[in-house]
Amino acid sequence: MPQVPTLTLNDGQQIPQLGFGVFQIPPRDTAAAVARALEVGYRHIDTAEMYGNEAEVGEAVRASGLERDAVWVTSKLNNGAHRPDDARQAFEGTLSALGLGHVDLFLIHWPLPTLYEGDFVSTWRTLEELQRDGRIRSIGVSNFQVEHLERLAAETDVTPAVNQIELHPYFQNREVKAYGEAHGIATEAWSPIAQGAVLDDETIGEVAREVGRTPGQVVLRWHLERGNIVFPKSADPDRTAENFALFDFRLTESQLERIDALDRGEDGRNGPHPNGFDMVPS
Ligand SMILES: NC(=O)c1ccc[n+]([C@@H]2O[C@H](COP(=O)([O-])OP(=O)(O)OC[C@H]3O[C@@H](n4cnc5c(N)ncnc54)[C@H](OP(=O)(O)O)[C@@H]3O)[C@@H](O)[C@H]2O)c1
Repeated sequence: MPQVPTLTLNDGQQIPQLGFGVFQIPPRDTAAAVARALEVGYRHIDTAEMYGNEAEVGEAVRASGLERDAVWVTSKLNNGAHRPDDARQAFEGTLSALGLGHVDLFLIHWPLPTLYEGDFVSTWRTLEELQRDGRIRSIGVSNFQVEHLERLAAETDVTPAVNQIELHPYFQNREVKAYGEAHGIATEAWSPIAQGAVLDDETIGEVAREVGRTPGQVVLRWHLERGNIVFPKSADPDRTAENFALFDFRLTESQLERIDALDRGEDGRNGPHPNGFDMVPS
């Protein structure tokens, strides 16, 4: 089984650079999908309270027979729980749903600058407090823009270990990624294959033919070589294995640059813009 490279975060923790995402996997299918991923060799699972499948992720991790420290588990604070007391309670809910004693990474899922009087700072201070309590190894954010990260830098003590943002060949989110690189914040790329939208791209198809791999593998390999942490989602056992088979080929610098050139800037964004996103699940 190939060894997935790890990246060292700014708090010293080692995160596997390739993981498995479970957004939009229905709870009834999640334990089997995660069990399959662990069997294939993934050792990093990305879930969230919002996905409604933390319990099934925990069930599969616990049933796997793997040591707890062999699997990196990330979850995220839901949008309705940004106030400090709510965040503490939501974190207890996450641990209890997972049935685990700690999470490796806990993220503020969205900054929600139009809600809570724009106060994600007290939410972040609550994550700092929870980390000190010892049941979260690393704390980070998701969908934070540069201005949000600058505010945390000015008003709080701990730099996020990661920022999980939309990033794929059509939307390379360069300004936010560059801020992370300059400030020691690792970039996690969500929707790394744009939920499939980049797989029919002509350039990606050409590179795939050149290296004898699938378009999905080429895009995921591009992420790894560009330093991103990725966790493609698949509910299909074969594609789950395909997305893990990334460690026996490389792309040349010129192939990487041809994919870099596919960036469409803001026009390539698929998901909502974090400055306006204000969905609070009922
Ligand atoms: N923080 C955030 O706000 C946020 C937002 C979105 C996602 N995420 C995280 O990022 C993870 C990945 O993003 P995502 O789920 O949006 O999208 P994605 O991983 O870019 O794409 C998943 C889609 O592509 C298909 N697919 C997967 N591998 C494939 C392959 N090799 N060939 C062809 N099709 C393939 C999947 O279908 P099948 O299942 O049928 O294979 C699914 O429809 C999520 O699961 C979640 O953990 C975070």
